[in-house]
Amino acid sequence: MEAPRLSIRAGHPDFLDLDWSQRIDDWSEDRTVDLPTGIHRHPVVFVPYRRDIYAIKELPLAIARHEYAMLRKLRERQASAVEPVGVVERPWLDPHAEGAGVVITRYLDYSVSYRELLEGDGFGPRRNQMLNAFANLLAELHVLGCFWGDASLSNVLYRFDAEALQVTMVDAETVEIHDELTTGQRHHDIQIMADNVAAGMADIAARNEDLAQSAKPMATVTVLDDADLALGEDIAARYHDLWNELTATEELDRNERYRISARIRRLNELGYEVDDVEISTTEADGPLRFRLKVGGRRFHSSRLRDITGIDATEGQARVILDDLHYHARGRATSPSERALAAVHWRVEVFEPLLDRIREAAGPTANPVQGYADFLNHRYLMATDAQRDIESDEAFDQWIAEGRPGYPLA
Ligand SMILES: Nc1ncnc2c1ncn2[C@@H]1O[C@H](COP(=O)(O)OP(=O)(O)OP(=O)(O)O)[C@@H](O)[C@H]1O
Ligand SMILES: [Mg+2]
Repeated sequence: MEAPRLSIRAGHPDFLDLDWSQRIDDWSEDRTVDLPTGIHRHPVVFVPYRRDIYAIKELPLAIARHEYAMLRKLRERQASAVEPVGVVERPWLDPHAEGAGVVITRYLDYSVSYRELLEGDGFGPRRNQMLNAFANLLAELHVLGCFWGDASLSNVLYRFDAEALQVTMVDAETVEIHDELTTGQRHHDIQIMADNVAAGMADIAARNEDLAQSAKPMATVTVLDDADLALGEDIAARYHDLWNELTATEELDRNERYRISARIRRLNELGYEVDDVEISTTEADGPLRFRLKVGGRRFHSSRLRDITGIDATEGQARVILDDLHYHARGRATSPSERALAAVHWRVEVFEPLLDRIREAAGPTANPVQGYADFLNHRYLMATDAQRDIESDEAFDQWIAEGRPGYPLA
């Protein structure tokens, strides 16, 4: 038997301890961890290493190579997709056979699949968040020139993101990357999403039937209504609104150039980075037309990472930056003072609190989301009391109340 060929990105284990001569489904259970997944056709296992857990998926060779290449390109563009780590080839297998190629990605920490999101109360309270997050991911990918070709509830992972949810692409087998997408390509992609989502909801409905027939307690059954079955159309409508907001061309008078800054701010608030402002005019003194060229949806998370080195999702980063600015207020005026204030805040405020959250919430809870929840709680206490609340006082109450998260809208 020939040897496997591994190509692994620097900074990760070499994966040579794994038995590549065997199919991943036959690997010893001692080496893998059982974690919930969305619906999928190809075999997937999760393997823990000292620092991280990795998702390992078997595919035919060409598909594995393609998926790996696409994930790398998406990563370069800072898209919300799982991190590609390596690709393994098994040259002794027929290249079309399942398992001739293997893609390794980094397990997305604190993520859940839609099945877990649906467990219990169903989409009910999280519906709005979920639909917005999904629409945001599609708009972000399209802005970056990515045609997905297989957007579905199972092909993304969900994470709590301050008061919102963040959705990350997990399956890039069908992705194509272009300089820019045509309207036809975008609409086609959205149609595929709507069809896939309808199929996903039908799957849940069928599982509910099964559960209802077995004698399992009803608490595990997700109650779906007609609107849930049309979820895809709802996502599509939100996507189209968002797309218009991101790409509309506006006309303005020459003394209204402030409107360009206002528009940039508005998109930044939504998390989008603005790379270029394209301005055109038809007559020498006539009105201007402008359009913004939007980049990825990482405005606040990039800033937080640049200033403090902290990794957070976009919504978390936005509230954490507010906290940083609140602490640095008045103290930092020059850029070097601001940089120093950020270091002080991280060491003296952020990290100690994160440790306390870890201690209180245990190792499986996401401490950064905990920090965002805590900030929200402190804010609500302050608006209630109409005075500033010290962090210690707010923290004790937050713990005593069971670490409440954001109220669901
Ligand atoms: N990096 C990762 N982090 C967390 N979960 C992951 C990761 N990669 C894969 N998964 C889980 O594995 C499942 C299957 O992955 P994926 O969708 O890529 O498989 P697939 O068999 O190619 O799917 P399809 O049937 O759509 O082709 C996902 O729904 C997700 O739950
Ligand atoms: Mg999939």
